[in-house]
Amino acid sequence: MREKIILALDVPTKEQAIEVIKSTEGIITAFKIGLQLFTAMGSDFVRELASSGLKIFLDLKFHDIPNTVAKAGIEVAKLGVWMFNVHTLGGAEMMKRTVEEVTEFCELKNLKKPKILGVTVLTSSSDETLRQVGIKADASETVKNLAILSARCGLDGVVASPHEIEIVKRNVEKEDFLVITPGIRPSFAPAEDQKRVMTPKEALSLGADYIVIGRPILQSSNPKVAIEKILLEIQ
Ligand code: C5P
Repeated sequence: MREKIILALDVPTKEQAIEVIKSTEGIITAFKIGLQLFTAMGSDFVRELASSGLKIFLDLKFHDIPNTVAKAGIEVAKLGVWMFNVHTLGGAEMMKRTVEEVTEFCELKNLKKPKILGVTVLTSSSDETLRQVGIKADASETVKNLAILSARCGLDGVVASPHEIEIVKRNVEKEDFLVITPGIRPSFAPAEDQKRVMTPKEALSLGADYIVIGRPILQSSNPKVAIEKILLEIQ
């Protein structure tokens, strides 16, 4: 079960990130580097962690024109990460071209192709958040449509709230299509800015392939104990 947990390294420095990694040694092997740590420490640190054998999910949610995202995807592949993501609202051409160019590059250079995921609707968004930006369908319907589109474009999976695990699994026919869910809150942690949350146990029982957890572990005085509590809850 612990292999299903991806710990979000949402900290500002390399030293803090290494401290978190060390404090969870032997339990967690998959870590997510997002906008905060990437902006502070850059790609050398990502390469360093990936080459040390850790599974790194680079969560930069690329959202730009097809050529720019495809070329950025190639640079990510060179870092040796396990997964990275693009924003599905960037559109079909952007997703397809990124998959094609990254796959071609990895074959040419004999690199392992990172898994490419699509961000659907942020777990901090509600139906009202979508309405405010002009999307009339509710969050579940939007996630379903974006997941179907991502699969058609060749993505390996989506990032979605735990409330949409079932709808994605039911509607996407592609085999081994991954659902990765942030918005996870163990029973002992507050929801904070996350709106559509669920416990780790609920999310995994609904079929989440991986769960991303940040603050409930990072803000605990002892991250290892927090993870052990989460594993107990899951079992
Ligand atoms: O601290 P918390 O457990 O809420 O962290 C969740 C992590 O997952 C954060 O790094 C956040 O950026 C990320 N994320 C998310 N919702 C998405 C995609 C990524 O919360 N749809």
